[in-house]
Amino acid sequence: MMMTVLVFLTAAVLLGVLTYLWRKYISGGMCTSQARLDRKTVIITGANTGIGKETALDLAARGARVILACRDIKRGQEAAAEIRAQVPNAEVVVRRLDLASLQSVKEFAQRIYETEERLDVLINNAGVAWCPRGSTQDGFELHFGVNHLGHFLLTNLLLDLLVKSGPSRIVIVSARCHQHGYMNWEDINWEERYSPFAAYNQSKLANHLFTRELSQRLEGTGVTVNCLHPGVVKTDIAKYIFFKEWNHVAFCWLYFLLFKNPREGAQTSIFCAVDESLEGKTGLYFSDCKEKEMAPLAKDKELAKKVWDLSAELVGLNEQECWPHTQLQSRRKHVDLLQTKWEEFPFNNNDICVMDRCEPIEHCLRQG
Ligand SMILES: NC(=O)c1ccc[n+]([C@@H]2O[C@H](COP(=O)([O-])OP(=O)(O)OC[C@H]3O[C@@H](n4cnc5c(N)ncnc54)[C@H](OP(=O)(O)O)[C@@H]3O)[C@@H](O)[C@H]2O)c1
Repeated sequence: MMMTVLVFLTAAVLLGVLTYLWRKYISGGMCTSQARLDRKTVIITGANTGIGKETALDLAARGARVILACRDIKRGQEAAAEIRAQVPNAEVVVRRLDLASLQSVKEFAQRIYETEERLDVLINNAGVAWCPRGSTQDGFELHFGVNHLGHFLLTNLLLDLLVKSGPSRIVIVSARCHQHGYMNWEDINWEERYSPFAAYNQSKLANHLFTRELSQRLEGTGVTVNCLHPGVVKTDIAKYIFFKEWNHVAFCWLYFLLFKNPREGAQTSIFCAVDESLEGKTGLYFSDCKEKEMAPLAKDKELAKKVWDLSAELVGLNEQECWPHTQLQSRRKHVDLLQTKWEEFPFNNNDICVMDRCEPIEHCLRQG
């Protein structure tokens, strides 16, 4: 009897230790930086739930003014209330942003220029995955439109503020599956042959290529851009492929053993946003708070340029409106102009030069 109890106890302790070690391994790296973000402003897209909400909670606790960019204001406000409950003095603001609508992206950016004096960190976190075939308001395939094109336009529109506030950071939440992705040039919107997996992978490869091309274009501006894989995290992202029954409490142990929780999943985003060791580092890929190698296709410079050109065309930005700016000094002047004259500036669906930083803006302002 004594022997049986001893064996049982030893097995239980061993199981406990093994589970602890396994769980520690699964949880990946934690961001250990104690950096404060007082007087800094951060925008996080898709921050009402999952990885985005946990990232917002952490950055708010570091003193940042955090703007939750959410498509559903009510859900955004619920998340903001949760954050305030945990961080009493948190400065959290909710703004509407639907990345499936270029008009919504433009309106969001306009509001940011109207209300914010600075932008220190932009975290492109929102995403959809493995959803049934669908289109954005502008007719783009949903994964490509939301995960890549919406963020492409948003980032370009906010660059002036990021540059003005530099040193500042852009963090792009991508995924490891970018390594299985390819650009389906013949059918970029997957109209002929739709695969939710291939469409998601393409959008995540585009996130990587955008990171690479943008980092080059932003050289010398003080703005860095890096992308990351958060790990396999138990969030709503897999809602289209997971059976509802899998949310049953009986599966909790499985999630506990195999998935990161959202707080653990947010660590690499937080690391990329605040860690001092990343100062000046740009165009890189991280996972588990460590630099990782991108897939070869993601490092293809020509491909990155081709995806940039296509994206600019699809969202209506011309090369003059994209970075790099040829004359930074003159661009800065335009930033000031943009800020002082914003109210006067005509802004409509077809007039993307609202955030322009070169001749057209003066022209527009003169007209307006
Ligand atoms: N979870 C993982 O295992 C995993 C692995 C690799 C990469 N990632 C990436 O991590 C990021 C965050 O995902 P998550 O796991 O936290 O998923 P999640 O819990 O589903 O959160 C996704 C967020 O994106 C928002 N969103 C979706 N479509 C949008 C739109 N059109 N406009 C604005 N916001 C929109 C969602 O808003 P609603 O709540 O209103 O839908 C939600 O806030 C994604 O980019 C995802 O691809 C996740």
